[in-house]
Amino acid sequence: MKLTIIGAGNVGATTAHLAALQGVAREIVLLDIVEGIPQGKALDIYESLPIVGRDCRVIGTNSYQDTANSDIVVITAGVPRKPGMSRDDLLTTNAGIVKSCAEQAIAYSPHAFYIVVSNPLDVMTYLTLKITGLPRTRVVGMAGVLDTARFRTFIAMELGVSVSDISAMVLGGHGDSMVPLVRYTTVAGVPLAELLPPERIAALVQRTRDGGAEIVAYLKTGSAYYAPAAAVVQMIAAVADDRKQILPCAVFLEGEYGLSDVVCGVPVKLGRSGVEEIFQLELTEAEQEALHRSAADVRRTIARMEELLQQAAS
Ligand code: APR
Repeated sequence: MKLTIIGAGNVGATTAHLAALQGVAREIVLLDIVEGIPQGKALDIYESLPIVGRDCRVIGTNSYQDTANSDIVVITAGVPRKPGMSRDDLLTTNAGIVKSCAEQAIAYSPHAFYIVVSNPLDVMTYLTLKITGLPRTRVVGMAGVLDTARFRTFIAMELGVSVSDISAMVLGGHGDSMVPLVRYTTVAGVPLAELLPPERIAALVQRTRDGGAEIVAYLKTGSAYYAPAAAVVQMIAAVADDRKQILPCAVFLEGEYGLSDVVCGVPVKLGRSGVEEIFQLELTEAEQEALHRSAADVRRTIARMEELLQQAAS
């Protein structure tokens, strides 16, 4: 398994480190536009492996030639949020960066599975799908695993139980309108609604929606990366090990949930062939409406991005 990570910043380097520690790849290529950074970080990660007893080649580079024939490509290049910024505020800068990364990566790895992390996530995933021309089974965005992990953490903190006892599902776009599905959230199999009053659940849902901003407000100079990287590595492992794991991922929809021509977070089965199935949960009218509102936000941002890219090209 050859893994390429584009962008050797906080998310990219942490993903490379975790992927190496977990032994999900034989070779990891860390690529960045800045000279020295990917080389230094990759060497540092490589040097940690004798200590932990893992074996994997970790290479840092500025050249896409070194990424040739990757099985999985993760795109984390771009700028992160600062306090007061929404993910959509990153649109102009990150659309140009992700477009150029996707164009160069696909030239060398035409058969890879692509995982997009750069924000605004759903829109950057749509862009990568269009630029690479790959089928929708080969391009996904990482958001749902992270949003779900945040929701699970807040529930565990509230109830004083293990995070691993909690199952949850967060659908929709990776923004303020994401849709944590309370009805599908359980603690050791017990529905959350039987354990907490509605106002506490509403507060945890809101904290999940604001989860990224909460970290940005603390860090001030950037956004979250430990949990995002862990989420990416879970998705990489699901594909690399053909786990057939059901995870919420941002995918291009073609009629599922009544939505088309938009990227949105829904539960999918990840295995060696990429997205092997898209699951359609039974939703109440209110949940369906919330999902459609979230998809409408993504659609508006896609339209804005297409305008911006056209202006840049003319
Ligand atoms: N090609 C390759 N790398 C690039 C390019 C490019 N064209 N443009 C920028 N980069 C690199 C930067 O040099 C930097 O090393 O992307 C890296 C981004 O790293 P950070 O600034 O640390 O940002 P990070 O926290 O990793 O977030 C990256 O993921 O979660 C999202 O919103 C976040 O969009 C942001 C992205």
